[in-house]
Amino acid sequence: MKQTVDFKKMKENNESIVMLTSYDYPSAVMAEKSGVDMILVGDSLGMVVLGYDSTIPVTMADMIHHTKAVKRGARDTFVVVDMPFMSYHASISDAMLNASKLMQEAEADAVKLEGAGEVVQVIDKLTQAGVPVVGHLGLTPQSVAVLGGYKVQGKDAKAAQKLIDDALAVEQAGAFALVLECVPKQLAEAISEKLSIPTIGIGAGRETDGQVLVYHDLVGYGFHRVPKFVKQYTRVSDQIEASIRSYVEDVKEQKFPEDKHSFTMKEEQLASLYG
Ligand code: KIV
Ligand code: NA
Repeated sequence: MKQTVDFKKMKENNESIVMLTSYDYPSAVMAEKSGVDMILVGDSLGMVVLGYDSTIPVTMADMIHHTKAVKRGARDTFVVVDMPFMSYHASISDAMLNASKLMQEAEADAVKLEGAGEVVQVIDKLTQAGVPVVGHLGLTPQSVAVLGGYKVQGKDAKAAQKLIDDALAVEQAGAFALVLECVPKQLAEAISEKLSIPTIGIGAGRETDGQVLVYHDLVGYGFHRVPKFVKQYTRVSDQIEASIRSYVEDVKEQKFPEDKHSFTMKEEQLASLYG
């Protein structure tokens, strides 16, 4: 399994880091089989798996439950777990306790926290306690109500400078990687050059040190909003719907099950059936 130092080496060697979200056993198995470098149990699970319309309702219990399933499916892949909304803001000790639950109960290999400012100190404390931390800047969905919607961040010079400063502060605090979400590609490139830790982009152009996508977006599974920056490699939802429609039709028309799906009794035993 790759470790945090390996991701730094990948940046130094100009080797792109591939991250993908997973939320359950089969998606984790598929991610590991397909060669992703790092799995993220994202709080996007609130939208793509649980049917909420934001990440706000996601709880620690949700994250622990789903992380355990992911770990069962991907024993040899580094698993980063999102700390959910408000699980690292009330106090440092709260954040420490919640991070330790994710690592000890759910066996997370690292945790991810959104934002800078007050959060920088939390990142510092966590890394000092031995918790590997991934930062997350740009569009930070847990703050969407404050940001005023899902919008590109850091578009003007002032906002871009703030993002650069925040990124440096997150690195300084000890994060070993940084997710950059929905920022102009030139800004993501500049931040990636300034940092020694790898940047992992989503909607941040090609010049970051890695990329991350949401599993359900990549395979076209589900009914949530799919952002512009997603590349959908297929639409499994269409295949699933067609399959279920065929099943419904088969049962209605008594075409399923066929003999090959059925069990039989020996001829000599049949007399007993209708006595
Ligand atoms: O929750 C998530 O899936 C994420 C990624 C989009 C980075 O945080
Ligand atoms: Na997230």
